Amino acid sequence: MALPSAGLRVTVVGIGYLGLTHAVCMADLGHEVLAIDVDQDKVVRAARGEVPFFEPGLEPLLRKNLESGRLRFTSSSAEIGWFGDVHFLCVGTPQGTDGAADLRYVHAAVDELAPHLARRCLVVGKSTVPVGTARRVAQRLHAAAPAGEQAELAWNPEFLREGFAVADSLSPDRLVFGTGSPWAEQMLRRVYEQPLAAGTPGLAMDLETAELVKVAANAFLATKISFINAMAEVCEAAGADVVRLAEALKCDERIGRRFLAPGLGFGGGCLPKDIRAFRATARDLGVTSVVDLLGDVDSINLGRRSRVTELAREAAGGSLTGRRVAVLGVAFKPDSDDVRDSPSLDVCARLMQEGAVVSVHDPVAMPSAARIRPELRYADSVSAAAEGADVVMHLTEWSDYRAIDPAALAGVVARRTMIDARCALDTRVWQEAGWTVRSPGRP
Ligand SMILES: NC(=O)c1ccc[n+]([C@@H]2O[C@H](COP(=O)([O-])OP(=O)(O)OC[C@H]3O[C@@H](n4cnc5c(N)ncnc54)[C@H](O)[C@@H]3O)[C@@H](O)[C@H]2O)c1
Repeated sequence: MALPSAGLRVTVVGIGYLGLTHAVCMADLGHEVLAIDVDQDKVVRAARGEVPFFEPGLEPLLRKNLESGRLRFTSSSAEIGWFGDVHFLCVGTPQGTDGAADLRYVHAAVDELAPHLARRCLVVGKSTVPVGTARRVAQRLHAAAPAGEQAELAWNPEFLREGFAVADSLSPDRLVFGTGSPWAEQMLRRVYEQPLAAGTPGLAMDLETAELVKVAANAFLATKISFINAMAEVCEAAGADVVRLAEALKCDERIGRRFLAPGLGFGGGCLPKDIRAFRATARDLGVTSVVDLLGDVDSINLGRRSRVTELAREAAGGSLTGRRVAVLGVAFKPDSDDVRDSPSLDVCARLMQEGAVVSVHDPVAMPSAARIRPELRYADSVSAAAEGADVVMHLTEWSDYRAIDPAALAGVVARRTMIDARCALDTRVWQEAGWTVRSPGRP
């Protein structure tokens, strides 16, 4: 990428999925970047050029920007405070016990950074937070920073998708700038000078609206997925085919082609926790329509996991006790090694609870899955996972799995039964190779 006329001094607080990608991309846009994490291991590995998670294209870009000298890592909040003109907060906002977002990491990050902010600067939240958080964080910041209100707060929510994080960061669909002053907006426009010049819309708004854009976007996407899965339930009851239905719906420009894949539903570190947090916010605000809507979206989604487990039980002849089940895919979605709230791992746990012997395969996510579910058997190939299986289940739609030769796999299984929970395999090809294929929402 060409460099902007004048790079800014940018810091990134928290180098998980979002923060490490953001730090690397900020450096690639030509800024001088210093990034910090409380996890010393992450700091050391990032400084060595290692990305501790699977994200296509990120590691080469990290190395390139380390070599250029524009990207550095530290464990010193004082150095961060002294260095930056713009500080991005990229810490986690996990789901709390009551479903609401747990803001303790955001508060801790501000409390650590603020005492070191002695001159005019912009602190920018990127984490996904409940509406109203930014204004409270601003008060906290002003109270603790020697620069007082000269340490200004903005919110610039992030929309990147794991698996496409670099492209989404360098060329986002839109940039949302929640700011309280023209100066703050101007600073953000300088930070993102290149994508803005390339045509990315930069939408300036108040802090509250910016916070809401992110959660509303995720609520809409989750609703689309649960809508098509509710249609899958109708199709099953009526003997119709949800895949053909979805194909026809997608041709309607008003509906759009994306997020209409029926099957096992959504998971991961964002959508489930974000809709639950939004639901908790809506309850606090007394907006019962959103409480009800998102409650239904969540329960339709979780219901898919029960239905897919049920399909496996039916395919195994009514009981899973002692049955061998091969599971293809454990990441919460393809092109990622993230297993946070993975629908597949949830189904695996249910299968085991019913007495099945579960053997899993995933192209990249097995190490992360093994950390939280060591009791599963991990196979280093699809055929090793499927050896002697009574049921094979396709639970994460990696493109590799679409290329499986059903005739070859037939040679290793005990029974040719495939549960295509993602409705993504070519059913006809599998049936021609002698397999019985069951999918939610398909006859
Ligand atoms: N992962 C995504 O695809 C994605 C996309 C858009 C938005 N988001 C949002 O971005 C935020 C971060 O998500 P993530 O997936 O990167 O989480 P993560 O858990 O992978 O990373 C958070 C990082 O913050 C660090 N951290 C915590 N407290 C800190 C502190 N006081 N100082 C410095 N570092 C600290 C943690 O050690 C961790 O490395 C969340 O609000 C999430 O909803 C994530």
